[in-house]
Parts: sequence; C-alpha cells; structure tokens
Amino acid sequence: MEYVYFEGKIVPEEEAKISIKTNSFHYGTAIFEGIRAYYDKETDKMFALFFKEHYERLFKNMKVLNMEINESIEELVEITKELIRKNNIKSDIYIRPIVYFSDTAIGPKLIGYNAKIAIYLYPLGDYIDIEKGTKAIVSSWTRLYDNMISPRLKVAGAYVNSAFAKTEAILAGVDEAIVLNKNGYVSEGSAENIFIVRDGKLITPPVSDDILEGITRWAVMVIAKDLGYEVIERSITRTELYIADEVFFCGTGAQISPVVEIDNRKIGDGKPGKITKEIQKVYFDAVKGKIEKYKHWVEEI
Ligand SMILES: Cc1ncc(COP(=O)(O)O)c(C=O)c1O
Repeated sequence: MEYVYFEGKIVPEEEAKISIKTNSFHYGTAIFEGIRAYYDKETDKMFALFFKEHYERLFKNMKVLNMEINESIEELVEITKELIRKNNIKSDIYIRPIVYFSDTAIGPKLIGYNAKIAIYLYPLGDYIDIEKGTKAIVSSWTRLYDNMISPRLKVAGAYVNSAFAKTEAILAGVDEAIVLNKNGYVSEGSAENIFIVRDGKLITPPVSDDILEGITRWAVMVIAKDLGYEVIERSITRTELYIADEVFFCGTGAQISPVVEIDNRKIGDGKPGKITKEIQKVYFDAVKGKIEKYKHWVEEI
C-alpha cells in the first residue's frame, strides 16, 4: 500500500523506516492490533469493523507495558479511516497498528523509553479457510500464562509461542494449532479464539484460561445469544474437542472458521457444523453493515 502512518504523519511507505537498534525490535515489547475493514461490492462501500474497540484494547495493552503515545483513541480511528481513503482501497483489508519503544538503547525494560505508533494496511481475504473447514492439531507447546507474558496482550514477544504452535501444525500437514494452557485446558488457536458446540450449546474457554480477549469472540457470543443459543464460558479439555458436535475458530483474521478435524479425528460428521454456519452467515452480513441491530459494529468509511 502506498501510504502508511509513521511518526505522527501519513507518509509514503518507503519513508517509514526504523533503525535496527530500535529497542522493541530486540525485546519483543511492541504492542499491535489486527483490525479489518470490509469492502461491499454491492454498495461499493468500505466498512470499518470495531475500530474503536481495537484501539481501546491497544490502549489497555499499552497501559500494561507502561507505554504512552501522542494520539488518542478517537484520533487513531480518524487517522486509520484517512489512511484507507488516501490509499483508495476497494477490497477487504487488514490493518496493523503497532506501538513500539523507538529508542535505540540496549536493555529490556518498560520505563524511560519513548513509544510511537505506526499503522499500515494490507489486502487480506480469508486468513484460514472459512468454507470447507480447517484441520487442526493440539500443539505440544503450552500456552503462555498471565504471570509470564500475559496472553491478554497482543505483544510481539508472545507471538513466538503462537509461531511455535502454528509451525508445528504446518509441519504436521494441517492448517492450525490448538494450544493447551499450563493446566492442560484448551486455551485457543495460534491466532484465534475457539468455540465448541455440544447439544446445541456453545462453549468457550473463560478469559482466565489464558486466552486473548478476542473482539470476535465477544461478537460471536452476542450473535449466538440473539439466535437463541445458550453460551457457556468454562474450561474445555482436550478430548472434549474430539467428541464435540461442532468446533470453530474465530478472530478478526480468521473470521468464523469451522474446524472439521482435530488430531486426525473427525469433528461431528467431518463437515462444517450447522450452528457454525448459521453464526458465520450472520457475522458476514453484520461486518458489511447489513444487519440493523449490529450496525453500530461498523462504520462506513
Ligand atoms: C492469540 C489470539 N487469539 C485470539 C485472537 C482473536 O482476537 P480478535 O477477535 O480480537 O481478533 C487473535 C487475533 O487477533 C489472536 O492473535
């Protein structure tokens, strides 16, 4: 994409360069977000999805890492919309804001450094399959926990854990990894939250089971309840995945992605589940501003 936001200005991408000495590059202390904007061909409009909520999460994460930047949440929402307009985008895109300690000093710490934000966009269709369904393994890597590097944080260093799990999945010939936490309970996928369906009820791990507090997870809970399904937040064990009627991942990147096989065991009949598809349909209409009661989730750009 031609333009990015860097050091307080929208500039051509080639002007946005950081030093190899940048502190956060060495110590994994950058906080980032993954946001989507959708293009609706029918109406020729771009829709910003949950912009405010993503920047609110970014600010909560920054608080944990003692970071402060010059821009406010409202300003960042406007800057992101301006970036989309300036790049003249007419496709589904992913937006990556990243806050980092820009100092060129050596030393891992969270005080005495200056934080800055950069934002760039890239075209992104489906991050993982949303139609045929995804095959997954339960990873041999354990999810991080709160007193180590909190899974609540979208902090660069924490994604080494995701990278180990995802790589294990790819090498095993499947698409995704499901990671268990230190107590052996299911936490989430490498970059998405997880739901299972049993007897017509949706079950998802609670925020205390070492998950990222996903915005899509929240949206799924709202949609499911509005469709009349009970949603339960409780711990899930590995074998419960195998015997679930349906399993799906959700996330800004992953959207709603049915899981059809885990550790070589078919989930349900091995096809995307009925309730998963029902939620998926509502979600995809909602993100393009087509459902009145969820219109406040999106903003026309
Ligand atoms: C580890 C992890 N879990 C869950 C999610 C889903 O979160 P959200 O729905 O807010 O995108 C993501 C993606 O951002 C993630 O990286």
